[in-house]
Amino acid sequence: MAFDIEMIKGVYNRMTERVDAARNIVGKPLTLAEKILYNHLWDGKATSSFVRGKDYVDFAPDRIACQDATAQMALLQFMQAGKSKVAVPTTVHCDHLIQAKIGADKDLQNALNNSSEVFNFLASVSNKYGIGFWKPGAGIIHQVVLENYAFPGGMMIGTDSHTVNAGGLGMVAIGVGGADAVDVMAGMPWELKFPKLIGVKLTGKLSGWTAPKDVILKVAGILTVKGGTGCIVEYFGEGAKSMSATGKGTICNMGAEIGATTSTFGYDDSMERYLRATGRDEVADEANKIASYLTGDDEVYANPEQYFDEVIEINLSELKPHLNGPFTPDLATPVGEMTEKAIKNDWPLKVDWGLIGSCTNSSYEDLSRAASVAKQAVDKGIVAKAEFGINPGSEQVRFTAERDGLLDIFEDLNAKIFTNACGPCIGQWSREGAEKQEKNTIIHSFNRNFSKRADGNPNTHAFVASPEMVAAIAISGKLDFNPVTDTLINKNGEEVKFEEPTGFELPPKGFDVEDAGFVAPMADGSGIEVKVSPTSERLQLLTPFKPIGNEVKDAKLLIKAHGKCTTDHISMAGPWLRFRGHLDNISNNCLIGAVNAFNMKTNKVKNQLTDEFGAVPDTARAYKAAGVYSVVVGDHNYGEGSSREHAAMEPRHLGVAAVIVKSFARIHETNLKKQGMLGLTFANETDYDLIQEDDTFNFLDLNEFAPGKQLTLELVHSDGSKDVIYLNHTYNQGQIDWFKEGSALNLIKKENAN
Ligand code: F3S
Repeated sequence: MAFDIEMIKGVYNRMTERVDAARNIVGKPLTLAEKILYNHLWDGKATSSFVRGKDYVDFAPDRIACQDATAQMALLQFMQAGKSKVAVPTTVHCDHLIQAKIGADKDLQNALNNSSEVFNFLASVSNKYGIGFWKPGAGIIHQVVLENYAFPGGMMIGTDSHTVNAGGLGMVAIGVGGADAVDVMAGMPWELKFPKLIGVKLTGKLSGWTAPKDVILKVAGILTVKGGTGCIVEYFGEGAKSMSATGKGTICNMGAEIGATTSTFGYDDSMERYLRATGRDEVADEANKIASYLTGDDEVYANPEQYFDEVIEINLSELKPHLNGPFTPDLATPVGEMTEKAIKNDWPLKVDWGLIGSCTNSSYEDLSRAASVAKQAVDKGIVAKAEFGINPGSEQVRFTAERDGLLDIFEDLNAKIFTNACGPCIGQWSREGAEKQEKNTIIHSFNRNFSKRADGNPNTHAFVASPEMVAAIAISGKLDFNPVTDTLINKNGEEVKFEEPTGFELPPKGFDVEDAGFVAPMADGSGIEVKVSPTSERLQLLTPFKPIGNEVKDAKLLIKAHGKCTTDHISMAGPWLRFRGHLDNISNNCLIGAVNAFNMKTNKVKNQLTDEFGAVPDTARAYKAAGVYSVVVGDHNYGEGSSREHAAMEPRHLGVAAVIVKSFARIHETNLKKQGMLGLTFANETDYDLIQEDDTFNFLDLNEFAPGKQLTLELVHSDGSKDVIYLNHTYNQGQIDWFKEGSALNLIKKENAN
């Protein structure tokens, strides 16, 4: 479990020199985000400054964290790299595959019964390759990372979008796809477009019913779900210092909901208190030595407009509690303004469930403040109108909260205490009656509230709020209840009112835990054999892709995709997620959501070998079985959406040699390159129109594949006529070497063997 103090000292030891050098080169004071970025350049000390929002830069992150759903394919790929250990400290956390239904013990046992092969696989790979393993029930990845691994000034990546939570302890922590994590595990750099910077100045101080959650609910209302794209959001000011580290974590966590690359806060007393309370005095002592380097320069915060690309100011003393939703986290409504809005929009005012927890809001402080509201209900004789569900963020938080009587208070309100895991936040909620799809309202302290996210019911209106507000509103059973002004009638018929919530930033008696759920890897895991059953439907060991080679001739068109083709169209999520550790099985969703430009239908393409129409994966498999390469053609921004590597691995597995499009979403383009495929763009976009349904493709000069040099493609149409077109690419020599070796991992393995 131990954090790696030597690694942290290494980061701090080089920080003063590198940051000073960067300040000289950039020629102006630096924000915290810039300091962390410049201290983590792959090439060492900065020799030139980078243009925000433009330059792609190689970084060397300090840590990696993976959750159980995304870790499967990441680790399967890492096993291909031929390394004996991961190159940087890495942890795996089992939190997504546990359903919330009856209560913690039974639900956990069910998960162990249903997903044991996945958990056992992750445990044995972790043990073999020096990866820390957090067992099912140990907690939610981001809460566990904050409690154990996050450190001010550090850089981490994680295979989950809410990795950004670690910004609460002053990190630059970023959610990535599995392929990126594998690169870093294997000792390669990690590339990121140098982000733009949004500064959020927090003045005043939170009080009463207003919580850190309301800061980000307000920011989401201002910036909307896309407003942070490509940006790091940096919070500063007296208001920032007045909040707890876990409260800062909440704010950074939901930075994902505004599309931000990540969010962060400068090192301060609250972070020091949190580090010490969680057994990390050494980290706090080291951070104190270079404290001024772990926050933005004074001049930056004094004149933020000069140094950030955008600045927002929020006065915490005036901030009101908010409810955001339904169906989107940026639809912000201050408590007290809900009645009219809900009636106008026909949102059900009756609240059926209140859920507290998730990686966003499951700290000791969160639970204690919500419990202070729940206790008032018990003491004042108020009967809770809605049902309650609680997901503690970690076993350490759960154990401490139980010891201190907080969980008893919720249980007095008949709350269900679910496993320390994601549960309802990721649709792992077996909610009774959800299948009836009735229109209803729930309120939760999570981060996302898209349709169907919690219980699979598209008619569940989910609103996001702070834990204390969730408690008050769920007890009242009314979405438009305002605890500041409204009263409730207790079981004696008396009118009663809530006092303001109170809580503890940190447990007064300290944290405690019997078994945190951590399994340290063996020092030498070389003797461990990772077993995967050949009949498993959920896991499949990968076999290295064979190089496509220079002779791509007589390739057949698999599909010419019309219009938008995102990673969801290429590799659908939903029920397919079950197969994310089994490449052959999940490949049965390959491109089934893409629209065939010739018949405007999905998953119906012509098999040129039989002239019959069939599903895309079946047709691809037929070409592959016949020893024929296939080609995918696409429109603009092909592969936008998520960074999931399956969208590149599946076509590669099914024998697609080239994806030729008008333009790519960059991450997907890189993923194709990593899998040793050709990701190419039409030199002349109108050549897209030349592609016909029965086309055969001959690459004429693949043997001359070189950086900056166009490739020539001959299209042979069914009437025998031909067109010769030119294709652009962005491969550098290293990436061409990936292509020649069959994949980036094949090349790493080869280099490792030499
Ligand atoms: Fe889990 Fe929900 Fe967070 S799925 S990692 S609790 S966003």
